[in-house]
Amino acid sequence: MTRLDLLYLKTTIQKNKYMANIWAKKSIVELQSEASDEKNGLKRTLSRLNLVALGVGGIIGAGIFVLTGQTAATYAGPSIVISFVIAAIACGFAGLCYAEFASMIPIAGSAYTYAYSTLGEFIAWIIGWDLILEYLFGAATVAVGWSGYVVSFLNDFGISLPTSIASSPLIFDTATGAWSTTGAVINFPAVFIVGIITTLLVIGIKESANFNNIIVVVKVAIILLFIGFGASFINTDNWTPFIPQNTGVFGQFGWSGIMRAAGVIFFAYIGFDAISTTAQEAKNPQKDMPWGILGSLAICTVLYILVGLVMTGIVPYLNLNDPAPVALAVNTAGEGLVWLRYPIKIGAIAGLSSVILILLMGQPRIFYSMSKDGLLPPVFSKVHPKFRTPYITTILTGVVAGVIAGLFPIGLLGELVSIGTLLAFVIVSGGVLVLRYRQPNLERPFKAPFFPVVPILGILSSGIVMLMLPGSTWSRLLIWLAIGLVIYFFYGRKHSKLGNSNETNKY
Ligand code: ALA
Repeated sequence: MTRLDLLYLKTTIQKNKYMANIWAKKSIVELQSEASDEKNGLKRTLSRLNLVALGVGGIIGAGIFVLTGQTAATYAGPSIVISFVIAAIACGFAGLCYAEFASMIPIAGSAYTYAYSTLGEFIAWIIGWDLILEYLFGAATVAVGWSGYVVSFLNDFGISLPTSIASSPLIFDTATGAWSTTGAVINFPAVFIVGIITTLLVIGIKESANFNNIIVVVKVAIILLFIGFGASFINTDNWTPFIPQNTGVFGQFGWSGIMRAAGVIFFAYIGFDAISTTAQEAKNPQKDMPWGILGSLAICTVLYILVGLVMTGIVPYLNLNDPAPVALAVNTAGEGLVWLRYPIKIGAIAGLSSVILILLMGQPRIFYSMSKDGLLPPVFSKVHPKFRTPYITTILTGVVAGVIAGLFPIGLLGELVSIGTLLAFVIVSGGVLVLRYRQPNLERPFKAPFFPVVPILGILSSGIVMLMLPGSTWSRLLIWLAIGLVIYFFYGRKHSKLGNSNETNKY
């Protein structure tokens, strides 16, 4: 063998080693044993009911309380009800895939861990990094919505917070693509709520789950009151035409409007997947995870459809473009429903709080898993000796989410959250597909039905909704992913436990 041959061989081996590193996959058996290591890990305290409540707590928020009205007024009219069904179907496919994974690999980390075991470390890193958009940015987005409701509630009592400390200082003009300042200094209420919830999360997940249960009861009760009492104020004339005629512009009413509205109110369903991040803290994850994910999704779908019907039945859809459309419907109904005015706002404020709680709880648990794998520094998986919570990442997440919530406007944040979440849905559905072919005999306590139709439709439906989002959102996603890649190649790849061991690709 000549020296040149030797050099070629050495380079090839190095190249293969490099490739093997970034495509390393976690063994499912190892993951399952990691999940049962309760002594050193997180505490298992969450019941089936807690999980369903966490799901409902994470789902019902700014989507239904803020976005519904605007979406009905500009895109779909009363047929927003059909948009709710379409978005629910897309989430349902992804939800079935999440449920299969969450019951099979009941470990903190959610879609990140699923990708690590099926598509390899590199894709797992991408999804872990991408999930920051859903959780951390999602929490910041809803905190901005929370601030809006609190400001309006205080106004009802004659307390007016100065705009300079209660609104976003930065604004982005989508038409020109330019940033400008509003003159405000900080959105203080948004920072405040992120701070309070972060503190709760540091103290403990059980305490947080109890707090969440109370809030979920309050917000569901308010929604049921609205549906129950609002139904008798419906004027069926407002439902005609049920699908308003398209104006000639794509997305403005008609069927294209229904599709666009489905893309926008997709945001209202985000959150059911957050349950999977608590799998390591569930008492019986194999059985209860599918219940939590699919149960909460089903409950919210029914509630959303009914709220959509009552809202568009009381208020002519063209008048619904209001930041507090549920409160507007109550006011429009007149004397008979006026008593619901304050409870609705309290319900919305409580509802948004629990969404922030779920999202801020999910993020540190993803960081925890990434750090355990060596892709992030060890400090990210430090568990508090007394509270048994990943307190350092919880605080870090809270600080960053607080800064974002204090500075940026809701619309821009919401778009980023949607595209990030949809990408996660596509990858999770793809993961189910890959793993069923690669390891068909693995024990799957819950199986997504009609294989391979469900995961394929999961990829397609989320992919199509992604395509409906504006180009600027795509650019932001790509920039975000590029930053993630730099961090991965400079830190994660070098410190990855699996990628640098001989265990890679062992099956
Ligand atoms: N689904 C959550 C909300 O609507 C994110 O606030």
